[in-house]
Amino acid sequence: MKMLEQPVLDAGAYRLRPFQPSDIPAVRQASADPYIPRITTVPAQGTEADYAAFIERQHRRVAEGSGYSFAIADAATNAAAGQIGLWLRDAHQGRASIGYWIAPGFRRRGIAKQALTALAAWGLEHPGIERVELYVEPWNEGSWRTAEACGFQREGLLRSWERVGSDRKDMYMYSRLRPAPRA
Ligand SMILES: CC(C)(COP(=O)(O)OP(=O)(O)OC[C@H]1O[C@@H](n2cnc3c(N)ncnc32)[C@H](O)[C@@H]1OP(=O)(O)O)[C@@H](O)C(=O)NCCC(=O)NCCS
Repeated sequence: MKMLEQPVLDAGAYRLRPFQPSDIPAVRQASADPYIPRITTVPAQGTEADYAAFIERQHRRVAEGSGYSFAIADAATNAAAGQIGLWLRDAHQGRASIGYWIAPGFRRRGIAKQALTALAAWGLEHPGIERVELYVEPWNEGSWRTAEACGFQREGLLRSWERVGSDRKDMYMYSRLRPAPRA
């Protein structure tokens, strides 16, 4: 599968674009969230240098082949509200996964829904990607509601699937499949 440059994707009133140094305020907000630093590489209560390093790391994802990390930015102001990534570790088996966070001050405005709708559609257009997956802890109603609103289907509970902080956690597995070609 050939993955090229990171594009800019339309996501309703938002756009998915590469991170910029001016996105530090959104990363700073995320770093103060109790959950985001546990499930991402956003530093917990970091320094300005830590936030800049986080942004720098996102730029390396395409070159490393690990996937695409996008800032979710307001289409009118370009201010970042969160992050969404398409991860390609299992792309050789036709699967990609998506992870996302919205900075606390921007939640409950439909931003995750718009970003996930756009990225899931884009991911499923890639040659070789047949299935896009999400892993969601059962308590995380905001995330599984977002998933379901974007057409993802809950397939089951993966018991003790992954370490989050110091504990292993169960995860709901959600997926969306590439639509079958029209006959
Ligand atoms: C989960 C998260 C991404 C949701 O982002 P958001 O932009 O606030 O979500 P949206 O406004 O697009 O809402 C999408 C749906 O979820 C619902 N929702 C959002 N937050 C909710 C919450 N805390 N409790 C219950 N429902 C919630 C909305 O009502 C909406 O449902 P609807 O389509 O039925 O109306 C955000 O809370 C977050 O970043 N949390 C911390 C990081 C995280 O959990 N990431 C996901 C890991 S799997």
